[in-house]
Amino acid sequence: MTLSQHRVPIMEALQQYQAARVVPFDVPGHKRGRGNPELAAFLGEACLGNDVNSMKPLDNLCHPVSVIREAEELAAEAFGAKHAFLLVNGTTSAVQAMVMTACKAGEKIIMPRNVHRSAINALILSGAVPVYVNPGVQQELGIPLGMAVEDVKQAILDHPDAKAILINNPTYYGICSNLQAITELAHAHDMLVLVDEAHGTHFYFNDQLPASAMSVGADMASVSMHKSGGSLTQSSFLLINNEVSEGYTRQIINLTQTTSGSYLLMSSLDISRKNLALHGQDIFNKVIKMAQYTREEINKIDGYYAYSKELINGDTIYDFDVSKLSIHTRQTGLAGIEVYDILRDEYDIQIEFGDLANILAYISVGDRTLDLERLVAALAEIKRRYKKDPSSLFDHEYINPEIVQTPQQAFYAPKETMPLGNSINRIASEFVMCYPPGIPIVAPGERVTQEIIDYIEYCKDKGCFLTGTEDQQVENLNVVKEAD
Ligand SMILES: Cc1ncc(COP(=O)(O)O)c(C=O)c1O
Repeated sequence: MTLSQHRVPIMEALQQYQAARVVPFDVPGHKRGRGNPELAAFLGEACLGNDVNSMKPLDNLCHPVSVIREAEELAAEAFGAKHAFLLVNGTTSAVQAMVMTACKAGEKIIMPRNVHRSAINALILSGAVPVYVNPGVQQELGIPLGMAVEDVKQAILDHPDAKAILINNPTYYGICSNLQAITELAHAHDMLVLVDEAHGTHFYFNDQLPASAMSVGADMASVSMHKSGGSLTQSSFLLINNEVSEGYTRQIINLTQTTSGSYLLMSSLDISRKNLALHGQDIFNKVIKMAQYTREEINKIDGYYAYSKELINGDTIYDFDVSKLSIHTRQTGLAGIEVYDILRDEYDIQIEFGDLANILAYISVGDRTLDLERLVAALAEIKRRYKKDPSSLFDHEYINPEIVQTPQQAFYAPKETMPLGNSINRIASEFVMCYPPGIPIVAPGERVTQEIIDYIEYCKDKGCFLTGTEDQQVENLNVVKEAD
């Protein structure tokens, strides 16, 4: 069967269903919005009219055989994958499905420690055992690097029984590892390659961007369509390739996936896939141009450094995503999170995230030159008004963890709660992280050290949004109970 990327099967089926004016004696109970006028007025009639349930003409996400299946096939073709799954529970569910498809309880997976929490959560759920490759830090910027090929090779030699390698492509900041070399290495040792492409959807649709997972023959990839792909928040694709079984992967997805897949999310995936397949090259040419222009303008302001491909070093920064606008702020004397807060509170500008030394402004085709200029002007003014001596700022971001137990063992172990400051030398049984970026500072099973406590306190002091602990105030930490 020949596919046409002009088609949008889910949207077409919804339109036909609307036209048939079917009387709904099924859920959702808002009945096209008539049962909830305030919601309909807020979200719009079209939105509620398309918020419908699975049925034969509209297919079923858990077992797609018609229009959802067609949408999956179109997505697979657009991304160059063997199969694509539509997901409605974010890229979190894609990352979890990758890990749980590749590894069973007790099996090893090689990964950098600067993974998103969803990857370590997957270890808690599955019982898989992490083998961390220390990604190292770009000292000047305080950002984690990609994985060095030699480090991956060593991890493979030390753990030849590992089932898979998980790679970020790219990191939140835009850094890419040598995906091709790592994929070849992993395959030579019968390991699957799982790629977290939450920040890399656009790599598939523009030739100025780094290599995508499918293009180098990786086995699975989690793609956040709702980030750079333009679909609705929470919608995502999981791609599979090579020998990975479609049927088994779907069974894994269905372990945790809703049985009431949202047609708003699914149709948004379908429409966005069409848009990218037909116009992606052009869209991201524009995004790259805007990012490049803004980078150049920001780099004229003394104190900020908007970095790009000049960081490339052939290994741990094998490539850089030039569509990302990552900016180092430390020379202004301000932590990234401080600039992030000032931009919103005083300049009505919301950017994607700020950490201790960097900010990231997300650029998309929806941006206008006027807005980019406003961002540049605000950054210049912030520097003029708030500039401080940078010497008091923390100068590193990555703490190499001491792993004592697997994430699953520690999370489910008998535990006790204690003030964070008293937990030194104990084994954490929960996460602490700043969100975004959602990379754990400490994860279940890791030894708490003074350095970790200092780092958490410093993040709090600077105004980072800390999460992960049972205690909403992040003042207490759950640690594994010691034997009496
Ligand atoms: C690297 C990475 N992986 C996975 C995710 C999870 O994506 P989602 O929020 O769609 O569940 C994120 C979210 O920001 C992320 O940054």
